[in-house]
Formats: sequence, structure tokens, C-alpha cells
Amino acid sequence: MLTNNTTPFKHNRSFLLLLLSLAIFACSNATPQRQTASTALPFANDVADAAVMGKWTRSCALCHVSGNAGAPLVGDTAEWQQRLVQGEESILQRVLLGYNSMPPLGYCMSCEVQDFRAMIGFMAGTNQYRVRQ
Ligand code: HEC
Repeated sequence: MLTNNTTPFKHNRSFLLLLLSLAIFACSNATPQRQTASTALPFANDVADAAVMGKWTRSCALCHVSGNAGAPLVGDTAEWQQRLVQGEESILQRVLLGYNSMPPLGYCMSCEVQDFRAMIGFMAGTNQYRVRQ
């Protein structure tokens, strides 16, 4: 070690670079990894119960049933799939903050993040949902 400083240094440097690239890789893939840990589909475990569906009918349905202003249609799984690839956190941010003609919170002031998760899963067809009367 003392007689040859370059070899361990080089070794350490490439090891650090390896760690760094692993860290970057891990960060950029953090959301998909978390998703695949529990399930393959985004929002698959967020169940849209009657309360959630009531809120959805009073707010999101206004645009997501008609396709108003280019809103992705409920049940159009191919269209939703293209939007889901950005990851759960990113798509949730767009719902919370608004995105183009999509208004912040989708006009649902009483909705919690959990509600939005279930609504997206419902519209994208990735979760199980039940509607009880
Ligand atoms: C006033 C009409 C309107 C209402 C109400 C509305 N949306 Fe949207 N929404 C849109 C439009 C338009 C887009 C497409 C925006 C774009 O891609 O440019 C959109 C896109 C989205 C997207 C995809 C965003 C992305 O990253 O591609 C999600 C998720 C979404 N809406 C969820 C909801 C939810 C949940 C509600 C109800 C709480 C809701 N929206 C209510 C118009 C609406």
C-alpha cells in the first residue's frame, strides 16, 4: 500500500465512480422500483370506494368523461398507459399543481392524495375498484 499509491487510488476512484453511477441509477429509478416492489401496475392497490367515486363524479368526470380540452378519457387504457410511464409521483404532482388545461386538484378541493391515487387508478384501469350503493 505505501510503496504503490497509484493502484489503490485508481481502485478507489473507480469504485467511487461506480457508487456514484449506482446512486444516480437508483435515484432516477426510485419510483418504478417502489412500484414494482408492491405491484407491477401504478395505483393498483388504491381502491376507489363509493366515497372516492362520489368525488370523482362531481369533479373529474366533468372533463374525463367527455374528453373536454383533451382530457384523457376514463377507461382509455392505452392513452393512460402513455401518461403513467412518467411515474406515480410525477403524475400526482400534475394533479395537485395542474397541468396545461388540467386544473389544480381537478376541481376537487376536498380530495386527499389517497383519493387522487384511487381516481387515477380507476380512470387508467390499473386498480380494482368497487362502487357500493
Ligand atoms: C376542467 C377539466 C378537468 C377536470 C375537472 C379534471 N381534469 Fe384531469 N385533465 C384535464 C385535461 C385537459 C388533461 C390533459 C392535460 C394535458 O395533457 O395537456 C388532464 C389530465 C389529467 C391527468 C394526466 C396528467 C398527466 O401527467 O398526463 C390526470 C392524472 C388527471 N387529469 C386527473 C384528474 C383527476 C383525478 C381529476 C378530478 C379530481 C381531474 N383530472 C379533473 C382536464 C380536467
